[in-house]
Amino acid sequence: MSNGTMQAIRFHEYGGPEKLVLDTLERPAPKEGEVLLKVHAAGVNPVDWKFRAGYLQQWMPIQLPYVPGNDVAGTVEEVGPGVTEFRKGQAVYGLAQGGTYAQYVVVPASQLAPMPKNLSFDEAASVPVGALTAWHALFTYADLQAGQTVLVHGGAGGVGAFAVQLAHWKGAKVIATASADNLDFVRSLGADTVIDYNATQFETVVRDVDVVVDTVGGDVLQRSWQVLRPGGILVSITEPPSEEEAKKRGVRAAMVQTAFTGEDLRRITELIESGQLKPELGPVFRLTDADKAQELSQTRHGRGRIVLHIAD
Ligand SMILES: NC(=O)c1ccc[n+]([C@@H]2O[C@H](COP(=O)([O-])OP(=O)(O)OC[C@H]3O[C@@H](n4cnc5c(N)ncnc54)[C@H](OP(=O)(O)O)[C@@H]3O)[C@@H](O)[C@H]2O)c1
Repeated sequence: MSNGTMQAIRFHEYGGPEKLVLDTLERPAPKEGEVLLKVHAAGVNPVDWKFRAGYLQQWMPIQLPYVPGNDVAGTVEEVGPGVTEFRKGQAVYGLAQGGTYAQYVVVPASQLAPMPKNLSFDEAASVPVGALTAWHALFTYADLQAGQTVLVHGGAGGVGAFAVQLAHWKGAKVIATASADNLDFVRSLGADTVIDYNATQFETVVRDVDVVVDTVGGDVLQRSWQVLRPGGILVSITEPPSEEEAKKRGVRAAMVQTAFTGEDLRRITELIESGQLKPELGPVFRLTDADKAQELSQTRHGRGRIVLHIAD
């Protein structure tokens, strides 16, 4: 039996933002362990445009046509068999395996958590990927401790803004890079030292840090080796750092590749509800302007997370 229809943004072939089109699709039905959400807001992550551009075909193959989007905030429309922890009408947020640029999406219950009570849907959709990536980079991979020093590259971004706050919350000394317009913002998140990456080469002023969290990659990653103390760790979220280089320099290296869960998100929720962690909502677009949202994401500059507002 049909569950009705919905509107969704998808691409039928790889290419530029113009490949994103509004289609009418069958509304999906939740299977065992799944939840059907009415989507109120979807986060726009860099990985969304990378999928669309075809950059990830080798590593993370997808089936076309594809509805982008992982970050979601919405209300429970229907639960599948075996789902007992969520009920119809409940506000939740979490991580879908694609499909959130749509009026409805099916998500495994294990990837959802109740939405923080003090956030709007738009704010909540800006959280999951950014906060969980930052959490795992700092605590799962780097085991950051109070009193240690961490350098966060891209401290104003969707991941970086959470990394700065979480490292500060842990009691670490935080150094962060950002462009001139974002320096005060990054300081307000808890960075002890901020560096305008256009004015100062960070490696000329930073040394002996315990942890580098790199959200930028390329040349920034390569220049980061030299600022680590012996035994320190470089955690990248963009590309695998060279194990050989790490060995040569007597440091460690890791790439964040975590399967995030709703359980992890519950911990983030507690920090948000207690006011210790604040999401930074970037520009908000309508679903039909997903192409403009991805164009903006593709500039690789900005503050916080871009969001699609899909329903009130
Ligand atoms: N492995 C994973 O699980 C995972 C998860 C999430 C994201 N990622 C990847 O991580 C990257 C960042 O994601 P995001 O969501 O944080 O992106 P984002 O929200 O677009 O933020 C990018 C940030 O990078 C900053 N930036 C650009 N060039 C810089 C430079 N040379 N030095 C320092 N900062 C610079 C920008 O700051 P200004 O505006 O101040 O220039 C901007 O705030 C993307 O490539 C994404 O695909 C990976």
